Amino acid sequence: MTDTAAQLGEALRGRYVVERELGRGGMATVFLAHDLKHDRPVALKVLLPELAATVGPERFEREIKLAARLQHPHILTVLDSGEANGLLWFTMPYVEGHSLRDRLHREHQLPVDEALRIAREAAAALDYAHEHGVVHRDVKPENILLTRRGEVLVADFGIARALGGAETETLTQTGMAVGTPGYMSPEQAAGGSVDGRSDIYSLACVLYEMLAGETPYTGPTPQAIIAKRFSDPVPSVRRVRATVPEAADQAIQRALALVPADRFGTVLELLAALEAPEAPAGPPKKAIVVLPFANLSPDPDNAYFGDGLMEEVIADLSRVRALTVISRTSSVKLTETGWDLRRIGRELDSQPLVAITCSACRTKSSTDGWYRFVTVSTRGRTVPRRHASLRASPGKDGAAR
Ligand SMILES: Nc1ncnc2c1ncn2[C@@H]1O[C@H](COP(=O)(O)OP(=O)(O)OP(=O)(O)O)[C@@H](O)[C@H]1O
Ligand SMILES: [Mg+2]
Repeated sequence: MTDTAAQLGEALRGRYVVERELGRGGMATVFLAHDLKHDRPVALKVLLPELAATVGPERFEREIKLAARLQHPHILTVLDSGEANGLLWFTMPYVEGHSLRDRLHREHQLPVDEALRIAREAAAALDYAHEHGVVHRDVKPENILLTRRGEVLVADFGIARALGGAETETLTQTGMAVGTPGYMSPEQAAGGSVDGRSDIYSLACVLYEMLAGETPYTGPTPQAIIAKRFSDPVPSVRRVRATVPEAADQAIQRALALVPADRFGTVLELLAALEAPEAPAGPPKKAIVVLPFANLSPDPDNAYFGDGLMEEVIADLSRVRALTVISRTSSVKLTETGWDLRRIGRELDSQPLVAITCSACRTKSSTDGWYRFVTVSTRGRTVPRRHASLRASPGKDGAAR
C-alpha cells in the first residue's frame, strides 16, 4: 500500500477501510474503500498532498458542497468529504464498470448510435448541473464513467474549480494549461471566464472523438493542440466518418465554434440538435401524376366523363401512403404546357415519377361502368399493355359509357 493510502487509512480509521487503488489522474488518486457505517463500497478520491496544501480545506469544502448538491441519474454524486492529516478527500459511489477512456482505448471508434446516446446522457447531466449553477470545466472521457449496463455517470463536477487557484500556481511552474488540452474550450485555454458553453465545447470534443477516433484538434504538444483551435477551421466529423448523420455533424460543428456566442446557448439546444430527425432512410416516395383524359369519342358531351374519371383516379391513388399524388390543378397545368410525357417526367423528377395517362378510354361494358386504360407510363416511358380498371362516374343517363 502506498504512503498516501496508509496515511489515509489511518486518518479515516473507523469510518472507511481503504482497500486498493483504482486509478490516478494528474491531481488525485482514487481508491476503492469500504464505507463501514453504511456497509457499502465507495470510491475515495484523495488530492495529491502538494496540491491539497495549495488549495486549502476551505476552498475545497466550498466547491465540494456545491457539487454534492447535484442529484441526477447521470451524475456521479459526492457522498462525503473532509480533511484528514492534511489530506483532502471525498467519496462517491463506486462504479463497477469502466471509463469512456477505457472503452475508447479498446474500440477506438464507437457505433454512431452508441456515441450519440452517451453524448446525450452526458449532456443531460451537464444541463442539470448548469441549471444549478455548476460548470463542470473538465468534461473528458476519463470523467465519463460507464456502468456495467452502459449507463453514463459524469464524475468530478466542480472539482476543476475547486482546484482552480492551485492549478494556476502549478501552471506557472510547469507551463501547462488548466484542464485537458484535447477537450478544453478556447476561452478556458485563454484563461478567460467560463460558463456552460465551455462544457458544451468539451462535450462536442468528446463526441467527435467517439465518432472519429481522435479529438478534433491534435498535435505533438498541449500548446500546439490549443493553438489549432484558434488557427484551424472547425473540422467536420463526416469527412472522417461519412456514416455520421448530417444533423449530428452540424451540431458538433456549432458546439465547437471558437466564440461561445456562436455555440448553442444551452445544453438543451445541443440535445435538440443531436436529436433532429434524419431524412427518412430508404427510397423516396414515388410521385404520381394523373393526366387529364382525352375524349376520343366523336361526342364532345362525353368530355366530362374524363374529368370525373381523373378525379376518381386521383382520389383513389391518394389513399396509397407510399405515393405522392400531384394535384389535379398542377396536372392540368402540366398538360397545358404541351410537353410530352418524357418532359413532364423530367420536370417533376426531384423524385421518381410514374405518370398514368389514358390514350384510349373505351367502354368495357355499357352497364357495369368499368373502364380499361391501355397505356401506363413510368418516368415518362410508356409501358405498353399494362392494364388497370377503375369505376367511372355514371353517365348523364345513369349508365356508364
Ligand atoms: N467512482 C469511481 N468508481 C470507480 N472508478 C473510479 C471512480 N472515480 C474514478 N475512478 C477511476 O480512477 C481513475 C482516476 O480518476 P481521477 O478523477 O483521479 O483522474 P482522471 O479523471 O483520469 O484525471 P484528472 O486528474 O485530470 O481528473 C479514473 O480514470 C477511473 O478509472
Ligand atoms: Mg476524474
